[in-house]
Amino acid sequence: MEILVKNDYNQMSIAAAEIIAGLIRKKPDCVLGFATGGTPIGTYRELIRMHKENGLDFSNVKTFNLDEYLGIGINLEKPYELDQSYARFMYEELFKHINIKKENINLPDGLAKEPDNFCQWYEIEIKKAGGIDIQLLGIGADGHWAFNEPGSSLASRTRVQALTKQTLDDNYESFYKKANIKRQNMPHYAITMGIGTILESRHALMIASGAQKAAIVSEALEGCITSKVTASALQLHPGKVTVILDSAAASKLTWSIKY
Ligand code: PGA
Repeated sequence: MEILVKNDYNQMSIAAAEIIAGLIRKKPDCVLGFATGGTPIGTYRELIRMHKENGLDFSNVKTFNLDEYLGIGINLEKPYELDQSYARFMYEELFKHINIKKENINLPDGLAKEPDNFCQWYEIEIKKAGGIDIQLLGIGADGHWAFNEPGSSLASRTRVQALTKQTLDDNYESFYKKANIKRQNMPHYAITMGIGTILESRHALMIASGAQKAAIVSEALEGCITSKVTASALQLHPGKVTVILDSAAASKLTWSIKY
């Protein structure tokens, strides 16, 4: 596991984008796993800049997103503030600014009529694409990856998952409250790639920023491997692992950054 500590959010974002861009240049038809949330926005902005200023070419890149709320999905006709789907987030924050082909974008479908079947199909699509080359990951306040809430099996696959009160609270504050949506009306379930699915990516690239993430980052990286902190599964990843932190998020690490 390689842990890189950068001065601030901006430097963290640039470093993550450089790793992704390096792969795109080396393997133009690579498969990328993308994440939502506040943390990856800077990485996406840097990728957009590289596309616009340096011609970084996404035309053969395939993507798979980690998760989506159940019961909502993308409707590009609706104003942004009425559509809290992660699909919308990805179009707004990345896809509409780069030359990726629509047919190469894979997003969990929150409006799937048969969500369980959809989840199985999503797993098959990842395999058919040859697996994920780089999976970008954040880490939730309670240590979750995607919507793999505490207690999720570390061997779990893509599935429907109930959301914890902590996740509902966090996402209400950061997302739904701004759109004037009542808390009881936000989705309480999600489709998420499983921890087992994520561990099959060839390169896991986790980013975290800010002092509020310091304790959970140290639990995930230096604590026990436990389904209580599903991101601790990083310690089990059989492939390449890179963690990029800003100095605040790294501030509670002890032994793991000593070399
Ligand atoms: P954040 O979310 O990037 O908005 O902090 C991380 C997550 O929940 O995975």
